[in-house]
Amino acid sequence: MINKCLFPAAGYGTRFLPATKAVPKEMLPILTKPLLQYGVEEALSAGINNMAIVTGRGKRAIEDHFDNSFELESQLQGTPKEHYLTEIKEILKKSTFTYVRQQEMLGLGHAILTSEPLIGDEPFAVILADDLCVNDDDESGVISQLIEVYNQHKCSIVAIEEIPMDQTSKYGIIAGNLVNEMEDTFRVTNMVEKPESKDAPTNMAIIGRYILTPDIFDILRNTKPSKGGEIQITDALLTQAKKGKVIAYKFKGTRYDCGGIKGFVEATNYFAKQQDLI
Ligand code: G1P
Repeated sequence: MINKCLFPAAGYGTRFLPATKAVPKEMLPILTKPLLQYGVEEALSAGINNMAIVTGRGKRAIEDHFDNSFELESQLQGTPKEHYLTEIKEILKKSTFTYVRQQEMLGLGHAILTSEPLIGDEPFAVILADDLCVNDDDESGVISQLIEVYNQHKCSIVAIEEIPMDQTSKYGIIAGNLVNEMEDTFRVTNMVEKPESKDAPTNMAIIGRYILTPDIFDILRNTKPSKGGEIQITDALLTQAKKGKVIAYKFKGTRYDCGGIKGFVEATNYFAKQQDLI
């Protein structure tokens, strides 16, 4: 069973300055919902109710968002505006939120290591809320898909997508051997964080969805900073991959890179069209 989902949410969001000067980037809205809420909804739809969030200085709005707001609720109670809060209140009813602060920005691997007291000794899901994934009605969310793969292989799982070769320096890139004929699962043999295209083993990029087994914490403790002077989850996963313990899975659905303005606008347009707003 995967019971917990981790949301690393300590980054600065520099690409969205000045909007992110006082507002955490995870709280930027796609229409009326903050990015992080889409991630929480994806975890809930996979049957996960425990949300573990790694925050940092200046991120208190995240905790306030996933909490009751008595003043607002009593103001709206019995008015025609009450329904605006229905969805978020449902989420709060179903979920538990725990938080830890990352005191130094030492990379995604370090953020994940910081979450160890929230996760403990069990496999867990990770969602990078910047990567907003959407699915057709007949598909399940990406974390649900990864859990299915995990249940077969019982090792760490990364979601991947084929990207243009000139984009490899934005992602962790994997190489692997096909596990099944459907060409959607690979046993990972190599992983490189953000290589130049000439050094990239393939064009298969890791996107922000993982299932990690808890031995990752010990590995991370012993993982030296690399690319950008940061502790990379990709390096820690490579240690597992060398033992045949990482599966990469080509997920079904569409990912919007909301860590950048273009992807953010595309995601906004997607949801606006869904709601017949444009
Ligand atoms: C992180 C990971 C990278 C992965 C990416 C997915 O990078 O380090 O391996 O491909 O997320 O979004 P970031 O985008 O945080 O720089």
